[in-house]
Amino acid sequence: MTSQLSSLEEYREAYKRSVQDPEGFWAEQANTFSWIQPWEKVLSWDFKSPDIRWFEGGKLNITVNCLDRHIPEKGDDTAILWEPNDPLGSIKSYTYNELLESVCKVANALKANGIEKGDRVVFYMPMVPELAIGVLACARIGAIHSVVFAGFSAQALADRINDAEAKMVICSDFNNRGAKNIPVKQVVDNALSIGCPSVRTVLMDRNTGDEVVWNSEIDVHWDEQVDHQESYCPPEPMDSEDVLFILYTSGSTGKPKGVVHTCGGYMVYTWYTFLNVFQYKPGDIYWCTADIGWITGHSYIVYGPLLAGATTMMFEGVPTFPDAGRFWQICEKHSVNQFYTAPTAIRALMAQGDEWPDRYDLSNLKVIGSVGEPINEEAWHWYDKHVGRGNVPIVDTWWQTETGGILLTPIPGITDTKPTYCSYPMPGIQPVLVTQEGSIIEENNTEGLLCIRFPWPSIIRTTYGDHERCRQTYFSTFDNMYFTGDGARRDEDGRIRVIGRVDDVINVSGHRMGTAEVENAINEHPAVIESAVVGYPHDIKGQGIYAFVITDGKSSDNVQTEIRNVVTKEIGPIAKPDKIQIVSGLPKTRSGKIMRRILRKIAANDTSDLGDISTLLNPDIVKEILQGAQ
Ligand code: PRX
Repeated sequence: MTSQLSSLEEYREAYKRSVQDPEGFWAEQANTFSWIQPWEKVLSWDFKSPDIRWFEGGKLNITVNCLDRHIPEKGDDTAILWEPNDPLGSIKSYTYNELLESVCKVANALKANGIEKGDRVVFYMPMVPELAIGVLACARIGAIHSVVFAGFSAQALADRINDAEAKMVICSDFNNRGAKNIPVKQVVDNALSIGCPSVRTVLMDRNTGDEVVWNSEIDVHWDEQVDHQESYCPPEPMDSEDVLFILYTSGSTGKPKGVVHTCGGYMVYTWYTFLNVFQYKPGDIYWCTADIGWITGHSYIVYGPLLAGATTMMFEGVPTFPDAGRFWQICEKHSVNQFYTAPTAIRALMAQGDEWPDRYDLSNLKVIGSVGEPINEEAWHWYDKHVGRGNVPIVDTWWQTETGGILLTPIPGITDTKPTYCSYPMPGIQPVLVTQEGSIIEENNTEGLLCIRFPWPSIIRTTYGDHERCRQTYFSTFDNMYFTGDGARRDEDGRIRVIGRVDDVINVSGHRMGTAEVENAINEHPAVIESAVVGYPHDIKGQGIYAFVITDGKSSDNVQTEIRNVVTKEIGPIAKPDKIQIVSGLPKTRSGKIMRRILRKIAANDTSDLGDISTLLNPDIVKEILQGAQ
């Protein structure tokens, strides 16, 4: 059996086998890799606890499979290709030989700075090659990486550093992003001054070379630590179920949680899905525009492509700098074959006009992908027509931080595509739609809550430091099923379309946010008494943030701006509310629960039927809110 599917028949065959004999199926895939010691048991699982183990007893190091394994045949092939923010700047590229050496040197530098297997290392860096190298260096020595998106605030960074009790933070000095030069190290300094007692070292990469404040007690320079190191570092043998990384993501309650992925299963699943979803062929140039601060960057910029021996491109900049043709100019310049981006970027570029993609040669594209949020029909067709030129399959890939890899997607050239549908399960994935009560809906042409009823290798194992939260969030809603938090529709032929979250999580420009998290930030403003945040349909962002806020009446005229500033400080600019309505009360049930259903309708300007409001504690407030709605 080859792992890369090449026909509908093969897909059907693989799918059938993966359900009838999941252990046999995944063992066969895992055999592609180099294992230090073979596994004893392919799978043991219990969704109640949950306790899920893949390839138990096996020992491996994922970087051996990302790097060393490719050296004999592909040592001189390009592993990472880096395009800078400035279109006239120099590109950087690393062959597999060079990448292995760079990773080993950084791994040795980490060890020299006291980092050991199991220690947590937080990254706060822009999209520079050193980020991918640093992440792999952690994996080389068994340190657990936790990458924090470099758009988060000092407070959000401090929260994540402290939850993970990180020993080291790795950062850059500054970040070239569009026309801006953003201070990065300064945010780390601010986080540390909030209080991060576990951090012993800050390792700073000189990216722009601009001056930073230096604290010689804790700060060290990347080049001074790395350049003189030995060019080989032996890989640390890891158990399949040892933690590979923690990645924080938002939920419907409380602070963001650290999703934990482990070594063996994550390796097998990201590789298998990369190979099939993008139909990668040797020599292809693959480009995913995500940031490594999110799961898409982990699985489909770093691990999946490198495990497959691919050439993976990293881009430092933004889609609209210096102009709205940048993505397409890069596709032409590097003859990109597979392009993977988010609906919010597609919509933003669509709004700039057809002439931008039409100006460039995109004939090398073989697959174009979408991820992170539902893609609306108009954006799907524009992507198809102007980027795919009508003859490149679109893979609308549905998955989550918790799933580690893509679960639902068309397979290009093999299964059909239908606008807005992520369509079919990958082999090994058993999706079901269930009712609120938890019974499985068998018929097609229906809607329900999306669950997965069998484990796949890269399923979340726990939430860092709080296993109970993992159980509650994903495994307690329905018996023996992983609950995704998404609602979905199944069409008459069985294709699935994910509609969106059914919990209090919103998706703003592909960034996942908990409404409670934004409310907590707003409530930090001294004049705020209470707030309620909901998402509403937004043309470019997918969802915008609408905040209903009760103030103490003593607030200044600038209260809206001040609230936005507080949110920027607490979380980051990505969480800033688009609309803030000051209200004198919030619609509540008699038990004091905010009726978000009503607020969502008002925010969406869909007020024809607000449902029964007579049972509210304060029905009159609805009229007031309606009148003041924006
Ligand atoms: O609601 C779904 C939406 O994004 C959520 C997961 O967000 P996150 O963990 O940040 O991971 C994003 C990148 C994998 C899901 O619960 N989502 C993701 N992809 C799609 C999607 N919704 C519809 N269609 C998609 N293709």
